[in-house]
Amino acid sequence: MSDKLQKIIEERGPIKKIGVLGMGYVGIPAAALFADVDKFEKVLGFQRNSASSGYKIDMINAGESPLKGEEPGLEDLLRKVTGSNKFECTPDFSRIAEMDAVTLAIQTPFENPTDLIPDFGALIEGIRNVGRYLTPGTLVVLESTITPGTTNGMAKEILEEESGLIAGEDFALAHAPERVMVGRLLRNIQEHDRIVGGIDNTSTERAIELYSPVLTKGKIIPMTSTAAEVTKTAENTFRDLQIAAANQLALYCESMGINFYDVRAGIDSLKGEGITRAILYPGAGVGGHCLTKDTYHLERGIEIAGKTPLDYPENADSIYVLARKVNDFMPNHMFKLTEDALASVGKSVKGSKIAMLGWAFINDSDDARNPPSEPLYDLLIEAGAEVRIHDPHVLDYPNVTIEKDLNAVVDGADVIAILTGHSDYFKLNPADIKTTMGKDKPVIIDGRNVVDPTKFIDSGFVYRGIGRGDVN
Ligand SMILES: NC(=O)c1ccc[n+]([C@@H]2O[C@H](COP(=O)([O-])OP(=O)(O)OC[C@H]3O[C@@H](n4cnc5c(N)ncnc54)[C@H](O)[C@@H]3O)[C@@H](O)[C@H]2O)c1
Repeated sequence: MSDKLQKIIEERGPIKKIGVLGMGYVGIPAAALFADVDKFEKVLGFQRNSASSGYKIDMINAGESPLKGEEPGLEDLLRKVTGSNKFECTPDFSRIAEMDAVTLAIQTPFENPTDLIPDFGALIEGIRNVGRYLTPGTLVVLESTITPGTTNGMAKEILEEESGLIAGEDFALAHAPERVMVGRLLRNIQEHDRIVGGIDNTSTERAIELYSPVLTKGKIIPMTSTAAEVTKTAENTFRDLQIAAANQLALYCESMGINFYDVRAGIDSLKGEGITRAILYPGAGVGGHCLTKDTYHLERGIEIAGKTPLDYPENADSIYVLARKVNDFMPNHMFKLTEDALASVGKSVKGSKIAMLGWAFINDSDDARNPPSEPLYDLLIEAGAEVRIHDPHVLDYPNVTIEKDLNAVVDGADVIAILTGHSDYFKLNPADIKTTMGKDKPVIIDGRNVVDPTKFIDSGFVYRGIGRGDVN
């Protein structure tokens, strides 16, 4: 622990002004919650005035959330904290100099997963801006999901280079990963335990001061910055692995002509006394900004933070990367189910009209980053199908047209393929849908276990569903 940093922080006094860089799914709710804390005086949201995201600045300052879909409480909270002038969004990064604490919630995608090359361009620009305007005693926290070793490595180096200050002596530095899910952003930030990892004890303590007031149920779990980075990337890697295990079992069940959901209920019944199989659900694929890349951050961590050579079976694939491949395969399997179902009624994909229901990667959200619907769409178009897409929340997406009118999308279709478990799709009425489709033997492919197969089959549909070997 550095006495020097401790002294500077004491002189500076309690955290009053907080800056949040990156006004996205993570930054907006985090900033709004900081602003709602009485003892914090002011929160500034720093957002680049870029062609793709600059529009968010005026929207947020008008108290409106740029995040669409169902996000309970967020619009109300934004209206409250912008109305009381406690929260403001700005593209003026020089105001970082006014802040006691600055957090970064910037996207951290992968440019090339195969070679483990991340795209840290946006994050590095953000860190540089923080360094440029950093004042002694400020706390800097990376909230973005990052490769293990980044906080105490790349981020520290850039901040020191830009500011001329020394991390751990002149300013505090920590990683406090976000653990939110779209659709419950506010609740997750308040109720999940918060991992807080400083590069030293003083940094960890200062970060605890920042996060404690926003927690309602969650408690702080302190650790080192690298342990915090591994925790975050590993928790998403494990989720992806568990989904892949369910997907693989679903493929096995289809092959053996049985119902995955019967098997799941059986497996899940074995619990208690510390036993759990934690079996998740299979589906049409995994999407989003996080699960599609966090495995690669963890894998890359061996290169960046590894201290001794990794001891692992020679020439064996990482089970985490293999899981990614299984999950990435699921849209191909959706295509295969579509092909098979059409063949059973004497049709082929070429020339068939396909209505894709759901473009977002997650139910009841507008989040359409890396959606599994996209590779399926590409396969269908390549095979000569005529495809229309419905989504109630996603407004637009590059190179495709997304429609809001479900009946118009389904009208005249040979196939409806369900890609997202949006609430609307649970209400689909087989008789009405069949009339709208206007086909003798309409096809339904359920990628999210949304419809009751029996009802659709009884209404004259050809049904295929992931994991439904019993009725496929
Ligand atoms: N979305 C989630 O549910 C979730 C959950 C946990 C962790 N995370 C992680 O949090 C990070 C942010 O994710 P997100 O979903 O909020 O991303 P996002 O794309 O929704 O938001 C990022 C925002 O940062 C802005 N930005 C980019 N570069 C900037 C810069 N240099 N300065 C200021 N603003 C800049 C972008 O314009 C955008 O508005 C990622 O690392 C992600 O893996 C996301």
